[in-house]
Amino acid sequence: MQAWLLVACAAALATLAVAQKPGRFLSLPNPQKCASRPKEFFYRGHNYFYSGHVPALANRKVDWLDGRNICREYCMDLVSMETQEENNLIFKLIQQNDVPYIWTSGRLCDFKGCENRKDLEPKNIFGWFWSANREKLSPTTQIPNGWGYNPWSQTGHKKQRQPDNAEFDINGTSESCLSILNNVYNDGIAWHDVACYHEKPIVCEDSDELLNYVASTNPGLRL
Ligand SMILES: *[C@@H]1O[C@H](CO)[C@@H](O)[C@H](O)[C@H]1NC(C)=O
Repeated sequence: MQAWLLVACAAALATLAVAQKPGRFLSLPNPQKCASRPKEFFYRGHNYFYSGHVPALANRKVDWLDGRNICREYCMDLVSMETQEENNLIFKLIQQNDVPYIWTSGRLCDFKGCENRKDLEPKNIFGWFWSANREKLSPTTQIPNGWGYNPWSQTGHKKQRQPDNAEFDINGTSESCLSILNNVYNDGIAWHDVACYHEKPIVCEDSDELLNYVASTNPGLRL
């Protein structure tokens, strides 16, 4: 991808990302960090890592945007589970390491730029996408195509299936970000909508877009 296009995309994304907290932006990748990024495991062309297994990040819990930015400096982004196989890998990582919860790149399209999109209504069913690649999630009420189960939890704070936007009912804060919670509601490992300011460990996944950009602007750099 041409650098100017990437920069334009990054700018557009930054505008989207700051919708809730003005003055915060998406980070650009750091070529040196990209070249030495943690590679805990490899699946279908992408490297992944869990922040708890990286010494420099092991004790950090961050809000959703800071999570994205930590990943992006490494030419990665928060993890996106587009397939059941990939989701199972992440669930296994959480189970085997007793991880209480993580952020994913899942995001509700409820910011400036999401208005007048009939295809995203109602938002709680059709309004979710992976920020890392802008792909839509399956409708939240359905078992995704090719999957054997619905990854969204059947329960939560309101004892209703997810997403339930529960914190909005408590104090008006939207639950616009997708977290995987490990049995917090006695519901096993499952997807939940959570308000984006909560601080959690992260799983990062290679971003083709950022890796291609850094490769094209740093000839000879080994990524
Ligand atoms: C909303 O409620 C949650 C949970 O009790 C709390 O952590 C958070 O600080 C509250 N937010 C606001 C804006 O009052």
